[in-house]
Amino acid sequence: MTFRSGNPAVDRYIVEDYESVRGMSSRFAATICAHVIRRQSSLGIEGHFAEIGTFEGRFFIAMALGLARGEKALGIDTFDWPDAGLIDRFHAHCARLGLPEDGTVTIKSAARDLTDGDIRGALGGPVRFWHIDGDHTPDSLTADLDLAVQSLHAKGVLCLDDMLHPGYPLLVAALQAWLARHPEMHVLAVIDREDIVAAAKVMICREDAVDLYGQDLVDAFPAHHWKLGSDWGDYFAVVLTPQPRLAEV
Ligand SMILES: C[S@@+](CC[C@H](N)C(=O)[O-])C[C@H]1O[C@@H](n2cnc3c(N)ncnc32)[C@H](O)[C@@H]1O
Repeated sequence: MTFRSGNPAVDRYIVEDYESVRGMSSRFAATICAHVIRRQSSLGIEGHFAEIGTFEGRFFIAMALGLARGEKALGIDTFDWPDAGLIDRFHAHCARLGLPEDGTVTIKSAARDLTDGDIRGALGGPVRFWHIDGDHTPDSLTADLDLAVQSLHAKGVLCLDDMLHPGYPLLVAALQAWLARHPEMHVLAVIDREDIVAAAKVMICREDAVDLYGQDLVDAFPAHHWKLGSDWGDYFAVVLTPQPRLAEV
């Protein structure tokens, strides 16, 4: 692979064990997000990881392996699809792949039934990295964003899955409407898809935190930087893609 997060435990998991946990996030996206978590640690940004839509834990485990001692990983899922055995498979993968039991928290619920109090009660502090990958309707995405932003560390990152996916075109419209109500939040980067299942993610953060991450992503993944950038109207976000190229003119 031409990409590494720089965290040996995470990179080993992504190379050796990622495929043994069923899931939908790409190796490429997991590597970049793990790099962001490593970057946060190097900047002294402390907090937890939380995910809506944990499924068997493929992406969750990659992020959890990147956390510092004392930080927790929270998995939220209805855990009822495709069958009731999902939560047991999730816990088995976490144990097999070395996540500490006292660092892993699970909430079996639809995210829209949770409050910020539930999140803070489960974790005891702010979330430095949120991954939103649950119900892919515009209303649920909006509700998930509303929930997640309340516990987000001031310098934290919200990562949204399946943005710009052909199957869910309305999600990006919901994101744009949400961003219009939250002008303090900016799109930091677009992580392009590997394929139709391992689809694109968008990372957002407060505008005043963008400089903590943007150039660092370009410097860390130069072979994957698509130099034209992502046009969000009055600013550009970083684009990272597995195989960057420009049309020949
Ligand atoms: C695409 S899978 C997640 C894949 C996983 N994040 C990964 O990267 O491998 C979507 C998950 O969202 C869960 N889900 C769907 N609606 C939900 C909701 N309203 N609240 C929480 N989880 C939900 C499903 O049960 C399913 O496990």
